[in-house]
Amino acid sequence: MIEHEYERGNKHSSSRLGEQYYDNQKFILRKLEGGIKRKIDQLKNQRTKLRSNRKDSDISTVAVIGYTNCGKTSLIKAITGDSNMEPRNQLFATLDVTCHGTKLPGSNLDTVFIDTVGFISDIPTPLIASFSATLEDALEADLILHVADFSHPDHEHQRRQVLDTLRKLKVKLTDNKNILSVGNKIDLIPPEKWREVMTQGYLPTSAVRGFGLDHLLEKIEKQLIVSTDRVKLKMRLRPGSEEWEWLRQNSSFGDLEVDGDTNYNIVNVVISKHILEKFKAKYLKQ
Ligand code: GTP
Repeated sequence: MIEHEYERGNKHSSSRLGEQYYDNQKFILRKLEGGIKRKIDQLKNQRTKLRSNRKDSDISTVAVIGYTNCGKTSLIKAITGDSNMEPRNQLFATLDVTCHGTKLPGSNLDTVFIDTVGFISDIPTPLIASFSATLEDALEADLILHVADFSHPDHEHQRRQVLDTLRKLKVKLTDNKNILSVGNKIDLIPPEKWREVMTQGYLPTSAVRGFGLDHLLEKIEKQLIVSTDRVKLKMRLRPGSEEWEWLRQNSSFGDLEVDGDTNYNIVNVVISKHILEKFKAKYLKQ
């Protein structure tokens, strides 16, 4: 009986039984394929939901990308003051995506910096998929900070590689609105070359010496305000008033300036456009 069953299902059997065997196998494989596709769709939906939740959240995200060893980790460490981060002079010191939060000076905007795996020349095609999977979520960030090591003799080639790879990953770099380029390690090049860095559209920085970081943070804040559909306003408010408390909860309160009237402060507020409309409807009714 067992032999008979085996014979029926055996691909080597003669006559139509062999065909039947292949038909059965095809049927089973199709069923498996259907199951896997359903699971992938579920995962895609979950990811889309996570991304849209993140877009709606108050926290802005900056993905820091660049050729391996260009100083991504060092720059994030200098900006966020995260003492747990360990920059290392070795290729691929960062193998996974990690997140580091801070409040931007000036606006107090809650921002997460995402440290990503370093790019390399000519990523082999079979590796593109896993490299892109690692980067996919990071590249959905509100702003991409592209770091280049201007002290490296081959930095032009490295920058081309990064931009080519981004193009392969189908990251839109057309409007320049969501990408900011940084020329790092300027402490290792002569000051007369710093202008060259700027003329090529890069903000000169030194992550280890702290050069250019204030200017970089100002630029990051400006671009994040645009890309997250926020505005920066000066508001005249009475500390402790209902409006003051509402705005403290629903926006970022930045620097305070004194007003002529000591009962009031001038507050630099960064607020989403749609939340500003709510504020107006609630407190600025005619
Ligand atoms: P991967 O994770 O491998 O992609 O590296 P990374 O881009 O995160 O670079 P990392 O911050 O680990 O820095 C690599 C090396 O460059 C370390 O030895 C840093 O101390 C050094 N470094 C980073 N930024 C600067 C800089 O502005 N000036 C100088 N002189 N060295 C720097």
